[in-house]
Amino acid sequence: MQKIIAANWKMHKTRPEAAQFAAQIAQELAKGTPEGRLALIFPPYTDIATVADAFAGVTNLAVGGQNFYPAENGAFTGEISPAMLRDAGAVWALVGHSERRHVFGESDELIARKTAFGLEQGFKVMLCVGETLDERESGQLKAVLSRQLSTAITPLDPKDRARLSDRLVIAYEPVWAIGTGKVAGPDEIVEAHGVVRSFLRDLVGGNADEMPILYGGSVKPANASTILGLDNVDGLLVGGASLEAASFLAILRA
Ligand code: PGA
Repeated sequence: MQKIIAANWKMHKTRPEAAQFAAQIAQELAKGTPEGRLALIFPPYTDIATVADAFAGVTNLAVGGQNFYPAENGAFTGEISPAMLRDAGAVWALVGHSERRHVFGESDELIARKTAFGLEQGFKVMLCVGETLDERESGQLKAVLSRQLSTAITPLDPKDRARLSDRLVIAYEPVWAIGTGKVAGPDEIVEAHGVVRSFLRDLVGGNADEMPILYGGSVKPANASTILGLDNVDGLLVGGASLEAASFLAILRA
């Protein structure tokens, strides 16, 4: 399976900063993307068109939105629609990132609506799941992952569910490892990814094994290759270490 290396810029970079990063990446990758790798960038909304323009014509390099509201349009001040993201050049969309869940209070139900609407609107959706430290320490890892995955996937049309593996990607990001410098250990990652894989088999059936599961949480050039080599790790979602082009390229080549 192709490994997906995704950059989540969060609330970083003005347009000139994004243009500089994107030009550097596009120039490097125009010489050839590392074998078997797909690179994705999730910039802030105002940078999407800048990054998408710089990436035009470069293969295995795509752009996504960090979030959207699940409606075509309407009175939703401060929100952005999938059509607006698409118009700017986004092909992918992140849904349920831990900061959306825990800083902005998004519920499993809202995230489920976003997952369904994003897929319906033709996006490739990256659904983020993960437990907090309290949940892990109180033995709720499986229950949390099961609830987050099933709330988002069960409402999807069963016909679609069986064909989701090229349109839905899961990112497992333990909340306690995001932006903290604390990486989950190999055993913790293998355990959680195994749990996600087995829930996916129950939820989507036949092609669950082809659905990519990415790891995210304090990934850096120094730990990327070890994490990518673990069972059921099909890619990485990188925050802090994706903000410098050299660091992101090092992870892409890890
Ligand atoms: P981090 O963020 O790499 O800075 O821990 C990961 C993420 O939030 O997707």
